[in-house]
Amino acid sequence: MLDRVLVLYVLLGWFAHLPHLTIARDVSWWQRTDATKRVDTNKSDGYSDRDGAASHSTDTVNAEGSNSRSGSSDSKLYINISTSGNKANSNISSDFSNKTKGHYNTKKGPLFGGYDPYIWDDDWSNLDPQCPRANLTQLPRPCFTLHWICVHQETLVTHDWRYSYANPRRDPLPDMPWVENWNFPAAVGTNTDALRGRGARYRLHMRSASAHEPTAALRNPVFTNCTLPLIIVADFPYNMGEFFAKVLTALDQLSSTVLDEKVTLALNTPMGLDLAPFHSLLMMSYSRYTPITAVELGSRGCSDTQLSSTGRNCEPAADEDDDSDSSRGGCRVHRAVPWSVEAAQPHCFQRVIMCKWDLQTGGGTPLAAVARRVVSAFIREGMVPASPIEYPDSSSSSSSSSRKANSGSSKDKDWGKLYLDPDDPRGSSMLRVLIESRQGPVRNIKNLDALLDACKAMNRRGFTAGSFDQLACAATSFSQPDGSVDKNRFLTNVAAVRSAHVLVVLHGAGATNSWFMRQNSSALVELRPCQFGTRFAPWPDKYMPKQHEKNDDVIRFFALNIEDQAQCLKGDIETALRNHTYRRDSVGWDASYFARDQHLVLEPGPFLAFIRHVAGLLFDVQKYRGARDADRLHGYVVPEGLMYGPLSITNLSEYRAAFRPNIIGF
Ligand SMILES: *[C@@H]1O[C@H](CO)[C@@H](O)[C@H](O)[C@H]1NC(C)=O
Ligand SMILES: *[C@@H]1O[C@H](CO)[C@@H](O)[C@H](O)[C@H]1NC(C)=O
Ligand SMILES: *[C@@H]1O[C@H](CO)[C@@H](O)[C@H](O)[C@H]1NC(C)=O
Ligand SMILES: *[C@@H]1O[C@H](CO)[C@@H](O)[C@H](O)[C@H]1NC(C)=O
Ligand SMILES: *[C@@H]1O[C@H](CO)[C@@H](O)[C@H](O)[C@H]1NC(C)=O
Ligand SMILES: *[C@@H]1O[C@H](CO)[C@@H](O)[C@H](O)[C@H]1NC(C)=O
Ligand SMILES: *[C@@H]1O[C@H](CO)[C@@H](O)[C@H](O)[C@H]1NC(C)=O
Ligand SMILES: *[C@@H]1O[C@H](CO)[C@@H](O)[C@H](O)[C@H]1NC(C)=O
Ligand SMILES: *[C@@H]1O[C@H](CO)[C@@H](O)[C@H](O)[C@H]1NC(C)=O
Repeated sequence: MLDRVLVLYVLLGWFAHLPHLTIARDVSWWQRTDATKRVDTNKSDGYSDRDGAASHSTDTVNAEGSNSRSGSSDSKLYINISTSGNKANSNISSDFSNKTKGHYNTKKGPLFGGYDPYIWDDDWSNLDPQCPRANLTQLPRPCFTLHWICVHQETLVTHDWRYSYANPRRDPLPDMPWVENWNFPAAVGTNTDALRGRGARYRLHMRSASAHEPTAALRNPVFTNCTLPLIIVADFPYNMGEFFAKVLTALDQLSSTVLDEKVTLALNTPMGLDLAPFHSLLMMSYSRYTPITAVELGSRGCSDTQLSSTGRNCEPAADEDDDSDSSRGGCRVHRAVPWSVEAAQPHCFQRVIMCKWDLQTGGGTPLAAVARRVVSAFIREGMVPASPIEYPDSSSSSSSSSRKANSGSSKDKDWGKLYLDPDDPRGSSMLRVLIESRQGPVRNIKNLDALLDACKAMNRRGFTAGSFDQLACAATSFSQPDGSVDKNRFLTNVAAVRSAHVLVVLHGAGATNSWFMRQNSSALVELRPCQFGTRFAPWPDKYMPKQHEKNDDVIRFFALNIEDQAQCLKGDIETALRNHTYRRDSVGWDASYFARDQHLVLEPGPFLAFIRHVAGLLFDVQKYRGARDADRLHGYVVPEGLMYGPLSITNLSEYRAAFRPNIIGF
């Protein structure tokens, strides 16, 4: 007898109510920061706040999840189906209170009969060492298992008796989770959110097996118990920051508790879109198979190719109906695929796992640990190229500094206890600053060359901060001109940020690269254009600053808010909207987007003074935290110069009047 609980959460209703949850959460920061404008989570620009403001819902989810698991001894099975979120939950648990194996007629065949979902134990699928070992009884919310599924293109075809038309007490089909919010990955060199680039919500279909199945593989299903697909559904799938923060943390945890690396990872990309290179690279550590899209999981196999006409690698379906002609795809044994160990492409699976990972998803491995795992895998596989960034060679140009790194000058002793990695090629005497040079219509630093020259000039004049006595700045773009990032570029970016002590980016997904920096000895400086870091502070403040703080500050976060109109320029999208080049209905008219999407023309003086401030706090985390506690961590560039302050000063003039902060003039 099987004494076991299957917790099947079908969460559509929950997710369909995302905006409500969003508002509830937003209210808390609204009150906290006195924001003048609500920023909703429909806006995505690079990060998730799952480590930040959403932690309340996170805790709730965890508590519920463990409660339901701890209740497993009652053999209570419940399936939480909420079809639209408006209707009451369907109550289908009563049908499944009978846990006797075979109750649902295991003898029934596929199609009209359907299979008993409980034919085997969910603890282990298969003892063959080539097959995944997965204890699905431990599958955390919001993942669930579907049984007896064939995958055909964008449709999951269920042979589960519980949904069979032949079952007089059948249940409604479970709703598939939606990709509710996503920005279309257009090749326009920027996130399309400001261009009304939001795609229509998308999900896979699910239906019962029918009398009219389109391929032989579906007409004669052979359900594998070896290939185990995990279909990943996530909002903002094409935003690397969101994907990293939501999917990778959850996947990392799943792989350390429930799954092994023989699982097949299939991302539910909308509308037949392909994976982005970062998807494959980031997920590489979690499966030995190449990640695929959900549609590829349902690809038709060799009956669509010449293989079927030649019959090579292709057995005709012997049990086809007499009238079925081979042009309908009389081939059900297909050539092998890179996402399965099996000799022929499987189309039908005893089990398919689906997870919708989202803002509300709880748990997850801390981002810094995920980043360490991901980067170590790249390094182990020899995938990280040499850094493309050439800083002056500090060891040859300054023998005094290399001596200092290895001997014990008095200054050395101060920081050496806190930071010493003999393998770190960056050393600790020349501060290496990498500035992201963003291309495209928004968020460029327009005077990058002048900044680089000013760096050199400052270095010549003499630069000292903490252990550093030299300064070198370099610039790099993290993407190709069309905004895309291929595999080489992605890995080159990893190499580039690991060659720097300080990464300077305009707020955006480029900041995600900060996770790949060397930990405990690197800093991220996030630039925020006029008003974005003040009036709209709740938006940027809930992502990177919170995430890095929650990860023990292994990457030190610094915000530099540019609040001098002379250093901010309208972004091209806003300009084009105002000069009627863009039609109003093709651009979101939203002051917070406009603020975020400005270009900068940075005064070198305050910028470099801030870089020196960062360098002085870089290696000493206690000093760094002390500065945060003293509200002297983050910078505000005002017309008169540079001041330090806390995050989230939503009204700078009020703050200045109240606290009279010192302003360093230039
Ligand atoms: C967020 O997006 C959803 C679906 O795209 C939409 O229904 C909802 O109104 C949006 N919420 C806000 C606050 O814009
Ligand atoms: C089903 O989900 C709803 C909404 O999330 C929740 O209120 C309810 O308690 C859940 N029911 C069970 C049995 O878990
Ligand atoms: C749901 O099922 C439970 C257990 O079988 C039963 O006690 C309850 O009355 C049902 N609720 C509804 C709304 O049908
Ligand atoms: C459970 O199974 C037994 C015997 O197979 C049957 O008599 C009983 O009605 C079933 N209970 C439910 C709730 O389906
Ligand atoms: C898995 O499938 C193989 C091949 O069909 C079969 O021999 C084996 O018994 C199955 N194992 C389990 C645990 O169902
Ligand atoms: C699977 O997980 C359940 C629940 O935590 C546990 O009771 C069971 O022993 C696990 N099975 C194996 C084979 O580890
Ligand atoms: C970073 O420093 C902390 C102590 O401050 C230490 O526990 C941790 O292991 C360090 N991490 C790395 C990657 O060096
Ligand atoms: C409108 O603004 C866009 C973006 O800056 C620019 O490319 C275009 O030339 C402008 N058109 C006119 C008519 O000024
Ligand atoms: C900041 O506060 C001052 C004084 O209360 C007020 O006059 C000003 O309008 C506020 N500025 C913003 C951007 O809210």
